[in-house]
Amino acid sequence: MDDLTIARALHVLAIVHWIGGVSLVTLVLLPGITRSVPPKDRLSLFEMIEGRFAFQARISTLIAGATGFYMTHQLDAWYRFTDPTFWWMHAMVLIWVLFTFVLFVAEPLFLHRWFHEQATVAPEKTFALVLRMHRILLTLSLVTVGASVLGAHGAL
Ligand code: HEM
Repeated sequence: MDDLTIARALHVLAIVHWIGGVSLVTLVLLPGITRSVPPKDRLSLFEMIEGRFAFQARISTLIAGATGFYMTHQLDAWYRFTDPTFWWMHAMVLIWVLFTFVLFVAEPLFLHRWFHEQATVAPEKTFALVLRMHRILLTLSLVTVGASVLGAHGAL
């Protein structure tokens, strides 16, 4: 087995863990909390569960990024970023940049504090907004996963 294949397997494992976690938060945790937990109790429950995932997602995004750039280098595929027909390569990097910014910059610097303050003052509105943002990110991520498999296997 060559190192490109190992990098590909690690890339896919990291994506499964990371986007799978985003699916769980978006499709199960947030709707469940919104429906069944009284507004005043939502924040602490959400922060406890999502906080644990955010830490794990940081590791997954690091592995996905490192293996992604490694494969690009090994495949000598940098030229793809100048060719629009490889839009799925741009999509992967865009999703990675978005999540990296949220997890490593926005959350620690201001997003966590902003969410905590807003969810204390107006839980209904804040959770609705957070759910909408998660739905948008999940949709973009899933389209990217599908397109990347098709693209990597020559079907696009
Ligand atoms: C820095 C960010 C990333 C880079 C540089 C990158 C790069 C790559 C490269 C070079 C490949 C192999 C393409 C080929 O075989 O022709 C690949 C495959 C793939 N990537 Fe990424 N990727 C990144 C992030 C992501 C993200 C965020 C996702 C999902 C949302 C993703 C999902 C996939 C999938 C599903 C495959 C196909 C695996 C297969 O079926 O062989 N990647 N990536």
